[in-house]
Amino acid sequence: MSLGLIGGTGLDTLSGLRVTASHAVDTPYGQPSMAIEEGVLAGRKVFFLHRHGGGGRPIPPHRVNYRANLWALHELGVKRILAANAVGAIASSMTAGKLVIPHQLIDYTWGREHSFDDGSSGVLQHVDFTHPYDAGLREEVLCAARAAEVPYVDAAVLGVVQGPRLETAAEVTRFSGDGCDLLGMTGMPEASLARELGLPYAAICMVVNAAAGLGDASISMDAIRETLRGETLLFGALLRAFLEA
Ligand code: HPA
Repeated sequence: MSLGLIGGTGLDTLSGLRVTASHAVDTPYGQPSMAIEEGVLAGRKVFFLHRHGGGGRPIPPHRVNYRANLWALHELGVKRILAANAVGAIASSMTAGKLVIPHQLIDYTWGREHSFDDGSSGVLQHVDFTHPYDAGLREEVLCAARAAEVPYVDAAVLGVVQGPRLETAAEVTRFSGDGCDLLGMTGMPEASLARELGLPYAAICMVVNAAAGLGDASISMDAIRETLRGETLLFGALLRAFLEA
């Protein structure tokens, strides 16, 4: 079953991926973030898309064409999707350097094209999104995390914020009160668009900082990049174990 991998900040390339083709897919929703790379990783066929684009000018979270990205992966025959997200942590158990496999999310984004349904189909659809991440796929990811012996947390509520700015300390207090363990900017509408297309979807979050007001220092991009270097190695190890299972 073809796997689609959506990379986020820090995951511009997939280490070890032998690229066999590049697909520039045009979709009814416009252009995906980049031409999708088809290749072989750990002996398995995968399709890789970096959601912030492959060029020198990263597409910010609120400007990513999530619909085109998901549509293009679906068009290429991808049957399930693993997404990587760099996130800030609210929960004290989710320290920078850990991988977290969220089981729930709260969507705070606004103004993003968040549905394929423009009303023209004549059928009113309300997709079930009670459990935003696919249970079977999550279980496989958790097995892979155990096999790879990477530091991971097996459940979390991801709050998806609009960005691109980081939060105020008061906002973090509010999100914490809502039940969020993590904050990221790219988890939605990616997850619900995958659900609309019937594609099982799971996320692997790389904790890169303590959320605003919770850490010892202010959040710096340099520190985030430094943490990401280690996180991407962990992500690679988990992914390899997933593909080899
Ligand atoms: N907040 C929101 N998104 C993020 C953060 C954060 O602290 N860190 C990385 N992505």
